[in-house]
Amino acid sequence: MKSKKKHSSNGEVNLLHGDCKKLLKAIKSNSIDLVVTSPPYDNLRTYNDQKPFTFEDFKEIANELKRILKDGGTIVWIVGDAVLKGSESGTSFRQALYFKEVGLNIHDTMIYQKSGFQFPMTNRYQQVFEYMFVLTKGKPKTFNPIKDKENKCAGEKVKGTERQRDGSLTLKRVKNVGKFGMRTNIWQINNGYMKTTTDKFAYEHPAMFPEQLAEDHILSWSNPNDTVLDPFMGAGTTGKACKKLNRNFIGIELDSSYFQLAEKRVS
Ligand SMILES: C[S@@+](CC[C@H](N)C(=O)[O-])C[C@H]1O[C@@H](n2cnc3c(N)ncnc32)[C@H](O)[C@@H]1O
Repeated sequence: MKSKKKHSSNGEVNLLHGDCKKLLKAIKSNSIDLVVTSPPYDNLRTYNDQKPFTFEDFKEIANELKRILKDGGTIVWIVGDAVLKGSESGTSFRQALYFKEVGLNIHDTMIYQKSGFQFPMTNRYQQVFEYMFVLTKGKPKTFNPIKDKENKCAGEKVKGTERQRDGSLTLKRVKNVGKFGMRTNIWQINNGYMKTTTDKFAYEHPAMFPEQLAEDHILSWSNPNDTVLDPFMGAGTTGKACKKLNRNFIGIELDSSYFQLAEKRVS
């Protein structure tokens, strides 16, 4: 195992080369504020001939993540499903329900809607999204909502109503509408070559998520100087965003060539 630790004005960076199943065991309980990660999905990619990532591997890792997460801490688990013999695997849901079984809350099931898609399909609509399960250890201690949705009725006074069980409507509040409101839990984020990142060399990794996605989750669920973990670091997207946003970062990656990409990107 190779480990690189660095201090900088933008927070501490600790990059670990090895299997997160083992390395997570060395992280102190209740020490992580936020996890932003995307595991191998249904072995849709081979990642330089790694052995398949099984549900048993997942369970071991999920238990460790729960242990090291602070009370009120959050995990953003970004996943999609393979279609096997004409049916979606459902692995994403099984994983989310397992997190719930071990005591985390499924705080929100968010959608990452991609701008690009891969294969034209002949018997169903184009698949353009992935799940972003937001899992929390108790009530989330941090939520900094991003308010970038333009309000159609900005400047007007609107009445908020709530439907009662008997069907009647009750006036909740009268509000002056601002120019921007909180975005919804469906995030449309550009992906694809030079949109996911402008670091050309990083595209040697076959499954990066966009920098924008990592940044927006880090802003939403953590504060400066918090500690953020990515146990499936890949090319280091979460780490790069942490440096930019002044969070401490711990990243773990199994593959040595991806680990080198992450080192280059994060430092
Ligand atoms: C979906 S990719 C993550 C990509 C990352 N979010 C990015 O933007 O670059 C999953 C990564 O997990 C790594 N991986 C698979 N099993 C692992 C394990 N047991 N421990 C650490 N890393 C692992 C793979 O090598 C791959 O780079």
